[in-house]
Amino acid sequence: MENNETYNIKVLTLFPEMFPGSLGYSLAGKARKNKVWNLDIVNIRDFAEDKYGTVDDVPYGGGPGMILKPDVLGRAYDSNTPDKDWEKIVLTPRGKPLTQKMVQKMASCKGLLIVCGRYEGLDERFIEAKSLKEISIGDYVLSGGEPAAIVLIDAIIRLLSGTLNSTKNICEESFEKDILEYPQYTRPFNWEGLTPPKVLLSGDHAAIKKWREDKALEDTKNRRPELLFNEKK
Ligand code: 6GU
Repeated sequence: MENNETYNIKVLTLFPEMFPGSLGYSLAGKARKNKVWNLDIVNIRDFAEDKYGTVDDVPYGGGPGMILKPDVLGRAYDSNTPDKDWEKIVLTPRGKPLTQKMVQKMASCKGLLIVCGRYEGLDERFIEAKSLKEISIGDYVLSGGEPAAIVLIDAIIRLLSGTLNSTKNICEESFEKDILEYPQYTRPFNWEGLTPPKVLLSGDHAAIKKWREDKALEDTKNRRPELLFNEKK
């Protein structure tokens, strides 16, 4: 994260039009313009063999939905072989749940290759043959890996040096520690009869720091108690 090389990201997808999506705006968009990171989109369908552009087929053993074919995925991957020091992942609800720690590790690699799952899934042989790490962004089901890729890439980009413009210390934010952030308030002082906690206007920095620490702990206990007993992230 300390060097100033461009961080390269390659996404294999059946829906290239979904990119860069929100990654074209705000922090991520600016960082891309400044060559902090680079995005290459590969259309998996370009590697279909027949004239119909077939990329999927029915599952062996029966059941609903269609499965992405390993031969098509394999050709897409082999035409875009990542360097050895790149992280290679596939986004699927069967994967390991994403954490900030995993994001940090990916941000410290040279680059990242992401395969977006679709339909009922991908042929398992492709995942194994290419040693892809399976990652999920949470315990709910999306219709495909593309929105998950955008979430993951966003989380990585903001950690790259050259992305954050302010002096903000990201280590103080939620999930960089095992605790939620304290709540924030700004002007106007009186909004619809509601005012901020008095201590925040006191000018007493020690008291403000203590209030924030107490509030962060209280909110974490109430909302995410499991974070306080988190041994491995
Ligand atoms: Cl990575 N893909 C899909 N399809 N659903 C998900 C997910 C990924 N993560 C959580 N739900």
